[in-house]
Amino acid sequence: ADVFTFDPGFTSTASCESAITFIDGDKGELLHRGYAIGELASKSHYLEVCYLLLYGELPTAQQLEDFTNRVTNHTMLHEQMMQFYRGFRRDAHPMAIVCGVVGAMSAFYHDSTDVNDPWQREVASIRMIAKLPTITAWAYKYSVGQPFVYPSNDLDYASNFLRMCFAVPAEEYVVDPILSRAMDRIFTLHADHEQNASTSTVRLAGSSGANPFACIAAGVACLWGPAHGGANEAALNMLREIGSVDRIPEYIAKAKDKDDPFRLMGFGHRVYKNFDPRAKVMKESADEVLALLGVENNPTLQVAKELEKIALEDPYFVERKLYPNVDFYSGIILDAMGFPTSMFTPIFALSRTVGWIAQWKEMIADEKQKIGRPRQLYTGAAHRDYVDVENR
Ligand code: CMC
Repeated sequence: ADVFTFDPGFTSTASCESAITFIDGDKGELLHRGYAIGELASKSHYLEVCYLLLYGELPTAQQLEDFTNRVTNHTMLHEQMMQFYRGFRRDAHPMAIVCGVVGAMSAFYHDSTDVNDPWQREVASIRMIAKLPTITAWAYKYSVGQPFVYPSNDLDYASNFLRMCFAVPAEEYVVDPILSRAMDRIFTLHADHEQNASTSTVRLAGSSGANPFACIAAGVACLWGPAHGGANEAALNMLREIGSVDRIPEYIAKAKDKDDPFRLMGFGHRVYKNFDPRAKVMKESADEVLALLGVENNPTLQVAKELEKIALEDPYFVERKLYPNVDFYSGIILDAMGFPTSMFTPIFALSRTVGWIAQWKEMIADEKQKIGRPRQLYTGAAHRDYVDVENR
């Protein structure tokens, strides 16, 4: 019989070759096409990073302008998609809506579903990067019962998203540049992360030749789980549940208790066994936003700061190299901006879309790539004969 290597959770199996993102988990290093994430987050901005991930080089001024124009040209959603939103219950989780609407794009944009046509692949990619903010903002608007706000192409990517989420027809809405910058950083810091669960899902879906919208919808579905993209929502819910600094020791004890399934949400990472480099930038951003909004004394943040301090000193966390991850701080920023926790993971999905697309395009172009088809170690019954129901 064939013998296969057993690697549950793929901790030691490389599923592909990739030139997009490099991570050294022990050093806490994350590079996109060779550029350090910290430098990109402080000097660059999301759309430029999108270009870098997709095409491999930083754009010239002209290339960036052309790319930005191409993206802004596609920010509107097909008007009929509004009807699709209205089919969801108001209390549907926005991740369910985003997953459904992204999948439904293949029913609205037939002219960009042929994976064998490089031009169609390109159009589908631009469409998704352009439309994900609109799709995500509308999921939010639908949940709060406010009218959908159409995209504004004179605004930058992050400001346009904030406006589509928070503007209402009755009032003028001006985006604060500090908030827009913080939003852009959240997008940038989540843009790609090599072969994580959702990206591997997108590649696996794409390996069968499924259309790009279906593949990205598969990525959204995978991202939803609390061990992955759902961690930012879970982290903030946990901080709120803890509620005050004096209750932290009780939760630390629960996290350490092996008979208790509870884990400190927003701590630990499969790859980073050092400080997550994204978390460093996110922490700075959190301080900036909270200073602007004047919520330094917010109890959730006090719990977060104290929890971080205790966990960084406690031998249990130190020995296991459990540091706060990116989701620990992003949740605090999004909360301060006024997003409900249910929107945290959809915002992660919006940000990660470019990474999924870059990886999907790389896979399609890779001649060595075959349909993904893991094998198994069979542990079931050996061959046996069928017994009629009356004789069992
Ligand atoms: N709280 C308490 N103990 C933990 C935690 C935690 N957050 N994370 C890991 N451990 C312990 C775990 O119990 C195990 O202990 P022992 O060796 O005594 O059995 C040890 O640390 C190693 O854990 P593991 O489960 O083998 O590590 P992993 O690489 O499989 O898991 C993880 C990584 C991210 C799933 C896990 O750390 C976790 O569940 N964290 C909380 C959820 C979270 O914040 N996820 C976001 C990840 S970053 C964003 C993203 O990629 O989407």
